[in-house]
Amino acid sequence: MSNTTGTPGSIATAHTLPSYLDASHLGPWGNYLQQVDRVTPYLGSLARWVETLKRPKRILIVDVPIEMDNGAIAHFEGYRVQHNTSRGPGKGGVRFHQDVTLSEVMALSAWMSVKNAAVNVPYGGAKGGIRVDPRKLSMGELERLTRRYTSEIGIIIGPSKDIPAPDVNTNGQIMAWMMDTYSMNVGETATGVVTGKPVDLGGSLGRNEATGRGVYTVGVEAAHHIGLKIEGARLAVQGFGNVGGTAARLFAEAGAHVVAVQDHTGSLYRDGGLDVPALLAHVKETGGVGGFAGADRLDNDAFWGVDCDILIPAALETQITATNAGKIQARLVIEGANGPTTPEADDILHDKGVLVLPDVIANAGGVTVSYFEWVQDFSSFFWSEDEINARLVRIMKDAFAGIWQVAQEHKVSLRTATFIVACTRILHAREMRGLYP
Ligand SMILES: NC(=O)c1ccc[n+]([C@@H]2O[C@H](COP(=O)([O-])OP(=O)(O)OC[C@H]3O[C@@H](n4cnc5c(N)ncnc54)[C@H](O)[C@@H]3O)[C@@H](O)[C@H]2O)c1
Repeated sequence: MSNTTGTPGSIATAHTLPSYLDASHLGPWGNYLQQVDRVTPYLGSLARWVETLKRPKRILIVDVPIEMDNGAIAHFEGYRVQHNTSRGPGKGGVRFHQDVTLSEVMALSAWMSVKNAAVNVPYGGAKGGIRVDPRKLSMGELERLTRRYTSEIGIIIGPSKDIPAPDVNTNGQIMAWMMDTYSMNVGETATGVVTGKPVDLGGSLGRNEATGRGVYTVGVEAAHHIGLKIEGARLAVQGFGNVGGTAARLFAEAGAHVVAVQDHTGSLYRDGGLDVPALLAHVKETGGVGGFAGADRLDNDAFWGVDCDILIPAALETQITATNAGKIQARLVIEGANGPTTPEADDILHDKGVLVLPDVIANAGGVTVSYFEWVQDFSSFFWSEDEINARLVRIMKDAFAGIWQVAQEHKVSLRTATFIVACTRILHAREMRGLYP
């Protein structure tokens, strides 16, 4: 592993930053830049093009005004960032969260470029978001917000330009509104403009669970390589939404014990393992794990030091930092979330002998089935769930095997290995296309 150090100041001086970023608060984009620094020595002659990866191709910032139910006019900040489109149209989710920032959306869009290249689906990387707490909106306000945002970014998205999908706090209903708004504006039903749609609207079977299923699939592969048995393994999961909830269920079905969970409503612990189906039902009903009867409350900080074999961060970025990485007991960290581990924490975990299965491969199952959805929409021919799951598992296992081999060959972390595979593909495409004009 390279020794690149990562204080915000040193990252800022090591790179020519765009004027629209605050060098003293680089946020997740600063973490991404350090990851690019770590891969650069392995890019050979393609390193000539590496600056391409450090500048998003296109950023659109939009004002999203809506009329609230009480008659007031509220304005929200919205973004769509297309990081790279060398290998195909932009692809990446839309996040509704009160803490969304440009730096965050930029980093998420860049991780999408890397992820899409890592599993070799024909997409570039993009991401979007609105700075809003959707829990404070009525359904009507949420629909107006989604439609106005879609209309504002409509000038750069499209089935062959950039295809949004769900992310934190967005779901099939929001994708249905996005698809409808875009379709109304272009005058035809354009199902391929977003993925993660309800199945009755051109969505794909298996898409809801795809990210969690991918986390499980490559997690099992990684565990196998370090001699860790899934049956009886102790699991801690942060985030019990789409990704964390599905991954926890699949690991529990394979005989693992989910001993600790944390979400925005609190942390829970049960030494013998939580009843995962009961907890999923509780979250569906109440919106969070807090208040679940079948477990003890756990202090939020204590969650990170829980005695476990596998830790799955599946909430937000920058959760495993230099402050808590030293406490982690797990032998394997599987990143369901995007960007949960800072580069400093990565080094601490590496020194402790913890294997980190990085986001850019671990959570690529979602975009893989999104790719299937897009292909099915274009051909208007829909596949069975078994066929989708089998293709997903094959792509994930093949990608993991290739990355594992590169990691062994260069004696680098799985993150750097994934970046080597992916950035080589992206920059090779860039070089072959050449610069226009
Ligand atoms: N949904 C997908 O297909 C997909 C694909 C790839 C990556 N991801 C990534 O996975 C992560 C989770 O996404 P999701 O789709 O499951 O979202 P989600 O909205 O379904 O769930 C998010 C979870 O995070 C928890 N959370 C939020 N703030 C928290 C906090 N401060 N502390 C602890 N927990 C907190 C929420 O309570 C919830 O359980 C995100 O990083 C997302 O980018 C999602």
